[in-house]
Amino acid sequence: MVREIIKEGDEVLRKVCHKVEKFDARLHSLLDDMYETMKKSDGVGLAAPQVGILRRVVVIDVGEGKIELVNPEIVKVSGEQTGQEGCLSCPGKWGNVTRPMKVTVKAQDRFGEEIKIKGTELLARALCHEIDHLDGILFLDKATFEEDKE
Ligand code: CO
Repeated sequence: MVREIIKEGDEVLRKVCHKVEKFDARLHSLLDDMYETMKKSDGVGLAAPQVGILRRVVVIDVGEGKIELVNPEIVKVSGEQTGQEGCLSCPGKWGNVTRPMKVTVKAQDRFGEEIKIKGTELLARALCHEIDHLDGILFLDKATFEEDKE
């Protein structure tokens, strides 16, 4: 089921999300709905607070298949990249953000099993952006915009 995406300005996007403790049917529907919602809007990532759920849950698909992360944590970063970023909660806004070039993330899958994922370039960027959402951080907080240079 496609859920409504919450837009910038709503306080929900500024909350720190809670850890997931139950890997039940409710979590599975949330993950399924988040993926459907993200795909419908042509996004590459979506975090649970963007659909109003304050849980540490993220879905990502940068064109290499679906990634579901529950309770994700960045455990290693290296390098640097600066590039354009946007967010489904901030329609029409694009800004440059500096992110690590490579990240390693430890998380759990939908069944609670521990997983580790490594990402570079766009995937590294998406991992950082989505995990930021779980702590109430938007890319706008870190971005520089063209008008900033004037
Ligand atoms: Co976003």
